[in-house]
Amino acid sequence: MNLILLGAPGAGKGTQAEVISQALSIPQISTGNMLREAVKNGTEYGMKAKAAMDSGALVSDDIVIGILKERIAQDDCKNGFILDGFPRSVPQAEALDEMGVKIDKVLEIFVPDETIKERVSGRRVCEDCGASYHVQFKPTKTEGVCDKCGGATVIRKDDQPETVLERLATYHKTTEPLKAYYEKQGKLETVVGQEEVADTTALTLKAVGVK
Ligand code: AP5
Repeated sequence: MNLILLGAPGAGKGTQAEVISQALSIPQISTGNMLREAVKNGTEYGMKAKAAMDSGALVSDDIVIGILKERIAQDDCKNGFILDGFPRSVPQAEALDEMGVKIDKVLEIFVPDETIKERVSGRRVCEDCGASYHVQFKPTKTEGVCDKCGGATVIRKDDQPETVLERLATYHKTTEPLKAYYEKQGKLETVVGQEEVADTTALTLKAVGVK
């Protein structure tokens, strides 16, 4: 199954993509994580992407489409994949169609902006492996230490309140039109994000036919 997870920054796409990835044994492809890795490693892509990411803007389509194309050509994507954070604009969705990639379902995780602002302020991410936590809703077993790899968990640079406002504005202007794009194709389904992660997870799994 080829899935797209759509939603505002901080709505919980990454959290749900991870759950679906485990349930269906298909890879989670997060363009945000791939870009952060490129920035950390100082690659050519990373250096070009950094300024846009730090300000809450989108990275240019040509960079992201290039990264995505390479990733979905890999062997582990043969039985399906979950796109977490791609496409994020109509031109990116058109590029996916032009690549001949068949999308089975687009799952929108909907959470109001006010809730997002609260959630993102509590997010912590592992600076080594990118795993995501929340100080209240998904804490690490030991404060400040990643459960998965033992790396340090930190506040993401673009989770500063002013940058979050920019990211939300970018979402509403550039990414939200994708809802109409995929609704027209009969592929869009909306899951309303719940207060507890487990409640959202139950709805997400049902939407993709698990349980
Ligand atoms: P990206 O990494 O994709 O960030 P984002 O879309 O802004 O999404 P987030 O990772 O912030 O949130 P999420 O929805 O995954 O939420 P999460 O599950 O972590 O992109 C970063 C940047 O890279 C972009 O701004 C852009 O510059 C660039 N970029 C990436 N892709 C691009 C593309 N295709 N084109 C151009 N540029 C691109 O949850 C958030 C928090 O809430 C967590 O702490 C979590 O634990 C908690 N939480 C989750 N669910 C619940 C719940 N139900 N109840 C309570 N807490 C919850």
